[in-house]
Amino acid sequence: MAKIVISGGVPLNGEVWISGAKNAVLPILAATLLADEPMSIGNVPHLHDVTTTMELLGQMGVQLVLDERMKIHVDSRQARHWVAPYDLVKTMRASILVLGPLVAKYGSADVSLPGGCAIGSRPVDQHIRGLQALGAKVSVENGYIRARADRLKGAHIVMDMVTVTGTENILMAATLARGTTVIENAAQEPEVVDLARCLLAMGAQISGIGTSTLVIDGVERLHGAHYEVQPDRIETGTFLVAGAITSGRVLAKRTRSDNMQAVLQKLEECGAEINTGADFIEIDMKGRRPRAVNIDTAPYPAFPTDMQAQFAALNCVAEGVGVITENVFENRFMHIQELQRLGADIRVDGARAIIHGVTEMTGAPIMATDLRASACLVLAGLVAKGDTSVDRVYHIDRGYECIEEKLSGLGARIRRLAN
Ligand code: EPU
Repeated sequence: MAKIVISGGVPLNGEVWISGAKNAVLPILAATLLADEPMSIGNVPHLHDVTTTMELLGQMGVQLVLDERMKIHVDSRQARHWVAPYDLVKTMRASILVLGPLVAKYGSADVSLPGGCAIGSRPVDQHIRGLQALGAKVSVENGYIRARADRLKGAHIVMDMVTVTGTENILMAATLARGTTVIENAAQEPEVVDLARCLLAMGAQISGIGTSTLVIDGVERLHGAHYEVQPDRIETGTFLVAGAITSGRVLAKRTRSDNMQAVLQKLEECGAEINTGADFIEIDMKGRRPRAVNIDTAPYPAFPTDMQAQFAALNCVAEGVGVITENVFENRFMHIQELQRLGADIRVDGARAIIHGVTEMTGAPIMATDLRASACLVLAGLVAKGDTSVDRVYHIDRGYECIEEKLSGLGARIRRLAN
């Protein structure tokens, strides 16, 4: 199995290009199922999860061509096989995103239940309840969600909790429903906004975008469109933390700062100088050691759970004590034991990790357990003394494009070993 080996201790210095957002491109690719005409999606990141989604759509009969400029041309007019099988869903939970489009457009969807995953049980009851409210008949049989419907009908839906893909599934389904749908307590994440903008470009009628109440007036059909995926705010944040943890300077280009305020505030609190422009964010630690920060994860616009593990790594070598509280997923501390293997001083108390910064961590073999945990371990490796080898890096390839090339470009000593 491939490993990433990092020889720590180099303050990063330089520029890095940010890729398109993973969690925006996945629902946008699912949304292409709704269109009556070909679509093209630009700024697509080269990631395993994108390949898996292309495979999933391809199995349904959708025609997809990826050109050399990372633009995907999608034609879903031949989609005939409205199934998301277990072998694909188990490798990528986001496969659930085809449920809403399939039932809205074709009146039929058989999507494998995703089951548990490394960061918690992650039920999909809100997706199912929302589609039922829109008039779909939904049952769970043999491990599959089976949804059937004639044309869906608009409804008033109050979500029990804020769910990103739950909101996206219902939003996509509602675009083709007869009448008006209101989704209250909707997720406001920038990736939901990006999906909604893509749906607008396809002719959907949606208001309240970016707020917790989405109002969708169903239309008869959606047409083709070209859409450019927004930059990845979590990849951006991860590279900014890489600058902070190494006391270095990193200029993230082709990105945006308006949807990252909670993360930028925490970086400032840890002593970073932040400079932003229309399409860049620069972090400069001026050689200083970071100060520890407290983090409380919650839905947008609060601090994102997808940046929690990276800040845990930062706190390990920061000055002082930082408390990390994970409020979104019940089991998202798998990276803590691995950080302890590098010499971090961390005590876990339920949903809180209390981290006392140490002046030095030392390299060791460690293992990635999920996508953001693997980013956290690579960050820790950048500062640990000696060599850190991170095993099971397939997790990182799900969500970070060319991570070792990008970090090498900033001066990190990092390489990938085939096994
Ligand atoms: N939840 C339910 N019932 C549901 C849906 C969600 O109880 O029907 C709970 C979950 O168990 C969790 C909370 O609600 O405790 C929030 O989960 P959410 O549904 O928002 O998560 P998600 O949609 O499955 C997306 C991202 C995750 C990100 C979360 C939270 C995608 C493809 N995935 O997951 O991204 O952590 O929102 O922001 O958009 C990642 O990129 O590493 C990643 C895990």
